[in-house]
Amino acid sequence: MFDLRDNVMLITGSSRGIGRAIAEHAAQAGARVVISSRKQEACDAVAESIRAAGGEAIAVAANAGRKDELEALVDRTLDEWGRIDTLVCNAAINPHYGPLETIEDAAWDKIMGTNVRSNLWLANMVLPLMAERGGGAMILLSSVAGMRGCMNIGAYGISKTADIGLARTLAVQWGARNIRVNAICPGIVETDFARALWEDPAVAEPSIEATALKRLGRPDDIAGVALFLASPAAHYVTGTTIVADGGMTATINM
Ligand SMILES: NC(=O)c1ccc[n+]([C@@H]2O[C@H](COP(=O)([O-])OP(=O)(O)OC[C@H]3O[C@@H](n4cnc5c(N)ncnc54)[C@H](OP(=O)(O)O)[C@@H]3O)[C@@H](O)[C@H]2O)c1
Repeated sequence: MFDLRDNVMLITGSSRGIGRAIAEHAAQAGARVVISSRKQEACDAVAESIRAAGGEAIAVAANAGRKDELEALVDRTLDEWGRIDTLVCNAAINPHYGPLETIEDAAWDKIMGTNVRSNLWLANMVLPLMAERGGGAMILLSSVAGMRGCMNIGAYGISKTADIGLARTLAVQWGARNIRVNAICPGIVETDFARALWEDPAVAEPSIEATALKRLGRPDDIAGVALFLASPAAHYVTGTTIVADGGMTATINM
């Protein structure tokens, strides 16, 4: 049920962090993986280490905010392997920290463009191809920030709320073609992206205290959920969100 042999998986933002962990574990489970981020060299290094460990990987740089680069990423994957079975929309940015009243239009547009619209672009490029082949899976990396209101990362959080909605709506629209679409909401995971949160004891300590498992997340914690959603084990799971936050959103101090 958890075998990913025969699965071609394209993962955006997979040169490090959660995306890299998903790619490495998927390759170990037998998937052929496409490593992508803005920097070709960083992608090459990850693909090389996966191949050195006996897996199959190619590296294709693409900025998720640029449609032509995403088209080239999909085309290159099809040239190499002729199909995409699992699409993991993982790349995201957050250039604004602070209340919404201070955000510039350009930062808002960049967040929504890279974190939401690019996922729709990719869906519209890839899901019709999956449908022609009989089905597939799409996974969007959302966040617990998309499930709550946030004091300082509000615009990012709103983009992640939109990703939950996008997963749900794509699931409804593509379900009859045997395509499953789901979102994952990680809590705070120790990657470069969240460094400002977990390196600051004033944020990290109360966050750990408010988490049932009494620790922050690691990229592997999220990779397991993505592998499940990609695998035959999740064949009846679509249009939903799996929260992987160590029990952070389940906890209330009272
Ligand atoms: N870490 C957390 O606490 C946390 C919590 C909840 C949700 N998430 C979500 O999990 C996902 C992965 O985050 P992470 O923590 O693993 O981040 P990370 O360690 O900073 O890695 C981000 C990856 O995305 C790539 N990337 C950044 N901007 C890109 C762009 N415009 N186009 C293409 N690739 C881009 C980066 O490579 P390059 O710089 O080479 O492009 C890198 O490979 C994101 O969707 C994030 O919102 C993270």
